[in-house]
Amino acid sequence: MTAIATVILAAGAGSRMKSKMPKVLHQIAGRAMVSHLLDTVSTLNATKNIVVVAPGMDDVRAEVAPAQTAVQKEALGTGHAVAAALPDLEGFVGDILVLYGDTPLITAETLRTMIEARRASTGNAVVVLGFEPEDPLEYGRLVTNEAGDLEAIVEFADATDKEKSVRLCNSGVMAISSEHIEGLISAVGNENAKGEYYLTDIVSIARSKGLTCKVVKGQETELLGVNNRVQLAEAEEIAQERWRKQAMTQGATLIDPKSVFFSHDTILGQDVVVEPNVFFGPGVTISDGVRIKAFSHIEGATVGVKSQVGPYARLRPGAALGEKVKVGNFVEVKKASLDDGAKVSHLSYIGDAYVGAQANIGAGTITCNYDGYDKAKTVIGAGAFVGSNTALVAPVKIGDGAIIGAGSTVTKEVAPDALMVERASETQKAGWAKRFRAMKARLKK
Ligand code: UD1
Ligand code: MG
Repeated sequence: MTAIATVILAAGAGSRMKSKMPKVLHQIAGRAMVSHLLDTVSTLNATKNIVVVAPGMDDVRAEVAPAQTAVQKEALGTGHAVAAALPDLEGFVGDILVLYGDTPLITAETLRTMIEARRASTGNAVVVLGFEPEDPLEYGRLVTNEAGDLEAIVEFADATDKEKSVRLCNSGVMAISSEHIEGLISAVGNENAKGEYYLTDIVSIARSKGLTCKVVKGQETELLGVNNRVQLAEAEEIAQERWRKQAMTQGATLIDPKSVFFSHDTILGQDVVVEPNVFFGPGVTISDGVRIKAFSHIEGATVGVKSQVGPYARLRPGAALGEKVKVGNFVEVKKASLDDGAKVSHLSYIGDAYVGAQANIGAGTITCNYDGYDKAKTVIGAGAFVGSNTALVAPVKIGDGAIIGAGSTVTKEVAPDALMVERASETQKAGWAKRFRAMKARLKK
């Protein structure tokens, strides 16, 4: 087995994104593009993974840590970017996979195919991953000979009309033998339409040295390059499509898959049913037999076996639902644990709280967890019954089995099994309404 090293190019300005944020930090399914690539290459057991960044890209460094980074001092082109990683590859013997940080959808399987093709013959100095996109846009074009071997890559800006008519395009992914990489990269010049050192030139350079170059063909759904926000949305759509299929293959029912949005790390158990129009942000785990009803927004939350969430529920980070919990419509839960069988069925805010098993929280109950400066906790005991429209002013504790009368504002600890009611006394005047109406009717005459 030959060793593998990967070089991920991420130093470009990404000007077509029209963003203050580096291009590779833009997210697909809630994860930075460059991190998707690192996840994929992590399965290859590479000796080294080097991410090439520009000076000052501390946020990219932080995102990719603990992966090693190399600094390309000026963005002078993709060939120049690979050159910036060469000192870190000194002494490395094996295959070097070059990946572009803006091509995040590639799979490990395709990368393995590339490496196999590189190893198939020692003469193949470079293997390039090509594809035939529906619209070849401004991708570099792959020029092949009769045998199907690669002769050159022509960048769109430098291509003749004939070359532009070639449908086979460069994905940017290359496998290069360590034996040749230095010689090839150092020969790259910048006399072209953009005045850049193109990595793509190494193919014609290899050919001029009598080395052979191969093309492996891949799918557009893996190789779409993200240069602007339209392509970012296209990549998102492809990723979502993958996650939906995976969820269904693993035993979840999505009634309307196209309207359900996942994050890269969403975990759904078996026999989970997700109704239409549900959004999963990062950090969600849903256990077996849960039903997520329509129009719910869930992030950073865990939901226990056979619970029901929604419709129109919002689970925010730190929401932890036990088994058979019910969180109903227009309920927001944040940083709160709801123990087995607890019910919050309508119109509530439960934040910084613990709700014991089988407790019932009435409609319109609010945990008043914030005084404008600090957050405080509400603890509701097992089997407690909180009447509708109750304000629980934290920090406050309600004992197991206590009952809170509807409309109360609770500021003091309630003992277990006690009844607590905070309410002005009711007055009733017999016949008053009838007399009132009669008086009004007289005045209107
Ligand atoms: C590049 C390829 C093109 C290919 C396309 C596939 C070259 C010259 N062209 O074009 O053949 O069809 O990708 O998507 O390689 N980068 C650096 N330093 C630089 C310049 C770029 O690190 O100086 C990084 C960028 O951050 C990006 C990647 O390299 O992640 C590709 O750069 P980009 O400018 O997007 O190249 P394309 O124009 O898409
Ligand atoms: Mg690009």
